[in-house]
This record gives sequence, C-alpha cells and structure tokens, in this order.
Amino acid sequence: MIPIVTRRILITSALPYANGDIHFGHIMSTYLPADVYSRYCKLAGYDALYICASDEHGTPIELAAQKAGKDAATFVNEFHDRQAADFAALGIRFDEYYHTNSDENTKVAQEFFAEHKKKGDIYEKEVEQTFCEKDGRFLPDRFLRGTCPFCSAEDQYGDSCEKCGKTYGAGELLNPRCAVCGGTPIRKKSRHLFFSLSKYSQWLEKYQSEQPFPREVVNYLGKWISEGLADWDITRDGPYFGIPIPGEENKFFYVWYDAPIGYISSTLHYCNAHGKNFEDYWKGTDAELVHFIGKDIVYFHFLFWPAMLKEAGYSLPHRIPVRGHATIQGEKMSKSRGNFIGLSEFLAKYPADYLRFYYNSVTPNNSSDADFSWEEFGAKTNSELVGALCNYCYRVLSFTSSQFEGQVPVPAPGLLDSKLEKEFSAKIDAMPSAIADQLEQVEIKAGLEAGMAFVNDCNRYFNDRAPWKLAKERPEEAKAVMFLAAKAAYAISIHFQPFIPFYCQKIYSQLGFEGDVSAVRWADLSAFAPGRKLAKPEIVYRPLEKEVLAAEAAKLAAACKKIIV
Ligand code: 2FM
Ligand code: ZN
Repeated sequence: MIPIVTRRILITSALPYANGDIHFGHIMSTYLPADVYSRYCKLAGYDALYICASDEHGTPIELAAQKAGKDAATFVNEFHDRQAADFAALGIRFDEYYHTNSDENTKVAQEFFAEHKKKGDIYEKEVEQTFCEKDGRFLPDRFLRGTCPFCSAEDQYGDSCEKCGKTYGAGELLNPRCAVCGGTPIRKKSRHLFFSLSKYSQWLEKYQSEQPFPREVVNYLGKWISEGLADWDITRDGPYFGIPIPGEENKFFYVWYDAPIGYISSTLHYCNAHGKNFEDYWKGTDAELVHFIGKDIVYFHFLFWPAMLKEAGYSLPHRIPVRGHATIQGEKMSKSRGNFIGLSEFLAKYPADYLRFYYNSVTPNNSSDADFSWEEFGAKTNSELVGALCNYCYRVLSFTSSQFEGQVPVPAPGLLDSKLEKEFSAKIDAMPSAIADQLEQVEIKAGLEAGMAFVNDCNRYFNDRAPWKLAKERPEEAKAVMFLAAKAAYAISIHFQPFIPFYCQKIYSQLGFEGDVSAVRWADLSAFAPGRKLAKPEIVYRPLEKEVLAAEAAKLAAACKKIIV
C-alpha cells in the first residue's frame, strides 16, 4: 500500500502573559491570523496542530500575584482560565492551551539547558544589579524608579526615560527607588549563566536568508547581527516565579528562556493525551513550524529561539508571520490613554464573527499597525459581511423555502449548459483554490478578499438572473439558477470557515446538514446534491445601527478625554 503523505504543520501563537485579559492587540497580531491559518490547514487535510499556553513566569506576574494576595500558581491559573474562555468566545480553536508553569515545561527547559551546556553554549559571569535589601530581591528595570540622568525627568524606569526617550545602563538612574517598597536599593553582585548567542551571528544570517521570513524584519535584525549580537543572560536570582536551574542554588531561568519552550512542552502535553508522537512535530524533518507573533518580540523569535532550538536538536521555525500593533481610532491602544478595548467586554455586545471579519479584512500581512475604528467596523460589517455575504445566503435560502418548499431544485438536463450558468458554475469551482492560494502563503487579508470577490459574483448572478421573475416566466430555468445559487451558499459555508466560523456552521445547518462543518474537506463540494431538503431559513446577523456605532465612538472619545484631562 502506498503510504499517504500529508503535510505536518505545527502552528503557534505568542503566549499571552497570565496577568491580564485578552485584548484587541493580542487577537489582531497573533491569535486571529494563526486561527485562520490553522482552520484552513485542517480543512485542507494537513496534519496541523495549533498550540498555545499562558506565559506564567517572571517578576511582574509574581508581584502582581502578591498584590492580589494570591499565591502565584493560583493567580496564573485563574488568568489562564479567563483567557481560555475569551479565546473560545472568539472561536480561537487551539488544539492545546496549556501552561508554562507545568511539569512538562520544567522537564523540557531543564533538558534544553543540559543540552546547551553540553554543547558549550553556557558560561558563567558575575553581574552587578540593583537589589532591594528590604524586599530581599534583585529589581528588574521596570521595578526601579528614579530621575533620568539625561533630562532630569522624575519617576522614570531603570532602563529608559519616557520623557526624553534615552536609554541608559544599569546603575545610571539617579536617586533610584524600589517600585515595590519605595526604599533605596543598593548595587549587588551575583554569578549568572549566559547563553553565547554571539557565536551564532553568521549561522543566523544564513538561516534567515533561506527561510520565507518577512524581509522587513530580516533586514531590521540584520543590523543587530552585523553590529555583533550580545550574549544572553538567562539567569534570575530567587525569589523568582520560574523554573529552577539544575545544579544551581536559588537561581531560575529567565522567563524568556522557558516561555518559547512552552510551545514544545504544550505540544508534548497534547501528544501524550492524544496518543501522538510529539517528535513528529518537533524533530521530524518534514514538519513545518509556524510561529505567529507581534512585532515587539521579533528579537526573541528570530534570534534567540532558532539558536536555542538548533543547539538542543529541534526543528527550526519555517515561517514567522509578524503583525504590528493594534491602534484604536488611529491611536496606539493603551489603558492609560483610555482607548483600550477588552475582548470579553466587546464580545458581550457584538458577535465574534463581526470582529473576526473586521480584523481579517483590515490587517495587512506585515508589521504595519492595524486600526480599529467604530466607523470602519460599522461599514465593513454592514456593507460587506451582512449586506453582501449574509444577505446573499438568506435570499437564496428563503427563496428556496418559499418557492420550492425548502428543497434544492433539480435542474432539468441541459439547463446548466447555458453561458451564464456555465460561467457561474466555473466561479463556484474556482473559489476554493482562489482562497487557498492566498491562505497557503498566510495571506489572510488577500484570502478573505478572494472570498468576497466570489460573494460579489454570487450577488451579481442572483440579481442578473432574477429567479423571482424566472419562476413566473420560465420556471425550469429558475430551478437551475436556484440549484447553482444554493450550491454557492454551500461553498460559502465551507470556505469562509477560517474567517467567520460561527456563521458558517449556522448556514451549513440551515442548508440541512447535520454535524460540524469543519469536518468537511476543503475541495469537496460533493455532499451538495439537488433535491436536498433545507432547514428553516433564519436571519443570522443584522446590520449595526448607526446610533449604536456613534454612541460607542463617543464613549471612547470621552474616556480618552477624561484620562488626558
Ligand atoms: O510578549 C509577550 O506577551 C510574551 N508573553 C510572549 C511569549 S511568546 C513565547 F515565546 F513564549
Ligand atoms: Zn523594595
């Protein structure tokens, strides 16, 4: 028997820190594009897994837990569960949403370290850092406040000044204070372990030039590489919420060492639970590794991570799609600006597909920012999603229901051979690959555009053929037209799934199918046959009212003003 060879693809999204809720920045930059790609890969029949976890270690999380009066493990688990619920509400369908604070992650991180040590990648060096004697801890730059040594602005962080934008070295901040207790810290020495990234400069340059990586990112990082990469301090002294470094007293891996390893350990957890071999995804030469990330973390994913993987004997990233920031009404989104929109708050009012449709249609496949504006959200939803797509399906279903007793008509022999029918039929047949050609290249916006071009063809055909008139004048032709029109609605229910899965499931059911539409294979329209009995047609989505959109925009503007004033 000839073995069936299928592509194996491991898809990940950047792991969200377990000290906050999911917001638009997260979903636009990584979860939504990765989910679209993953849904497509599965429909295409590839052996694809979509893996993620919450990123649970590090000082900010530990101190946030302390402030909340909870132990760190309980604190991160609570956020993990809230994040998982938000993802599910948006239709982000992970195969695994796990934890970095897990036994598997501890095991794999410690194995990585042993391997890095064996290969001579780890060396020791004494470092001097800021230490708070009262709290008994070293203070990361974000937990240090003081006066900028350049412009004398007060209350600045330990590494850079928000007022003059300059960065400065450890110990340069004037009048330093501990952000936890307000006390005056001291400088203290400690022995740290470093990963020798500098020796991988040439290898990284070559590797990056051979991958289908975004050129703008590779060029940007090329400058860092040519200036000489600095070795990487992977150590944090206790107390630290993290993974202990084997053979060391009170020393832990820096959170950025164990976080990407979470991609592997979460796959391991999944594979153990599902009787699969995780090495097929991480060590098999044929597996493609695709990491979706935001532009803030390119340094870690294009430089540290490939070097870590290579030295530990794992597969290297094949693609790393990078997205920019989410802006809201043209401004960078932030809580302090007042223009922050949380996901759960949004989904309590609006269907998930509206947001999925919006971001999939406005987010470019590069690291430029993507804007959310209530006006554009209203326009996209009302004219494209509801006005063109949903309206088409509803018209087809309700006309079939009223004129043909809810049964897809059987076209008479020869009636599908006329020019218009042949043309439209060819468009239905071409649509799956028009979308797939784009999604194969992770061109999500272009994939949706290809789909919407088809929706426009559908509306044009339906309006030109006017089956409501044909039904009176040439009923047999009306039947042929409605057969094709319903077949197009079926194609929409299959091929729009990556973008708007909730809607597709509903239309699939209204077309009289049972079960999960995601079980249908991409290129297979064979289940759709004349004579099929439809379910009762229902309006799934309605346009957003102008007043509601205006009120949302005004509320946002007022919140920004209040904070700025
Ligand atoms: O920047 C962040 O939000 C990190 N929590 C992303 C980690 S991605 C991965 F490498 F683990
Ligand atoms: Zn302190």
